[in-house]
Amino acid sequence: MITFSAVSKVYPDGTSAVDGLSLTVEAGTVTVFVGPSGCGKTTAMRMINRMTEPTEGTLSVNGADTAEADRTQLRRGIGYVMQHAGLLPHRSVLDNVATVLRLTGESRKAARRIAYDMLARVGLEESLAARYPSQLSGGQQQRVGVARALASDPPILLMDEPFSAVDPLVRQDLQQELLRLQAQLRKTIVFVTHDIEEALLLGDKIAVFGPGGVLQQHDSPEQVLTAPANDFVSRFVGRERGIRSLAFASAAGVPITPASGAGRGRVALQRGWALIVDAEGRPETWEDSSQVRTPVTAALSEDGSLRAAVDAVLSSPAHMAPVTDRSGRLIGAAEGTDVFAALAGHARS
Ligand SMILES: Nc1ncnc2c1ncn2[C@@H]1O[C@H](COP(=O)(O)OP(=O)(O)OP(=O)(O)O)[C@@H](O)[C@H]1O
Ligand SMILES: [Mg+2]
Repeated sequence: MITFSAVSKVYPDGTSAVDGLSLTVEAGTVTVFVGPSGCGKTTAMRMINRMTEPTEGTLSVNGADTAEADRTQLRRGIGYVMQHAGLLPHRSVLDNVATVLRLTGESRKAARRIAYDMLARVGLEESLAARYPSQLSGGQQQRVGVARALASDPPILLMDEPFSAVDPLVRQDLQQELLRLQAQLRKTIVFVTHDIEEALLLGDKIAVFGPGGVLQQHDSPEQVLTAPANDFVSRFVGRERGIRSLAFASAAGVPITPASGAGRGRVALQRGWALIVDAEGRPETWEDSSQVRTPVTAALSEDGSLRAAVDAVLSSPAHMAPVTDRSGRLIGAAEGTDVFAALAGHARS
């Protein structure tokens, strides 16, 4: 758990970077610091491991005041991922990760073994370990940065715009990878970004920073979307607020027509449409009444959101959403007209 209590930072030139920040980051959760450029996100983050010292207030990690902690000791428990990975250019990928472990006293052999393991965990092939950072793509470098930060297994991870330098598709991969890792590792993570979409996707909690380093709102993604604290947050979250909030609205009220004979092979649905399912019963291909086939690109899980329902309908040639159980097996379909009626109901509520 990380607690900021009335923390401020005024730089020597008089710039007020963070102003009276109070918030708690619960253990095992992701808190995203989001806001426009220059509003103190990095400064606030860097005060956690004392790369920057606060001018006022106190910061504690698991109840202990960081000002009284030994800095080296404090940093040992805190991994840090920078925007441009920050890898050592003249060391191999493996050594970049292993170096941290050597500093914490692991033997050379153990450090290499753990480093290989960490690289695999972040989805990098063993064959890349011998390369230098400049021989990797931007996304691969970011993965090495994450592997390095995780290598010594710190309970806390600070990530400052770790994915902003890569293209949107790679970025989506890295975001999913982080969600997957976090589901296993349950670190206490502070993640900085400019990007509200990224914040909504990754954050258990979101802290919206405004001009002068003043915290505007600290809430769940759903609350930030549906109940912005003020005009600043409302403008920052943007015009697509309504659409985004659908991700938090349940599709449970949408009627589902159960599929007869759901299981293997070809499952007949409404209006002459059928779905071909794979061996596990997952929908794979649409088939119309003249046997024209189109791949399924989106389906709605029975506990899914209205946004997932809309996505599934819009990407289906049949204007209906395949509905699956939680393990992905086809159980039926929802008509587009019913999904849009639910949408209209949501918009009115
Ligand atoms: N070492 C420094 N000395 C003086 N002012 C600084 C220093 N570092 C940052 N600042 C100022 O403090 C304010 C907050 O900077 P900070 O880097 O924390 O913002 P940020 O929200 O991370 O911005 P960005 O999104 O651009 O990374 C800015 O006005 C910045 O110019
Ligand atoms: Mg910054």
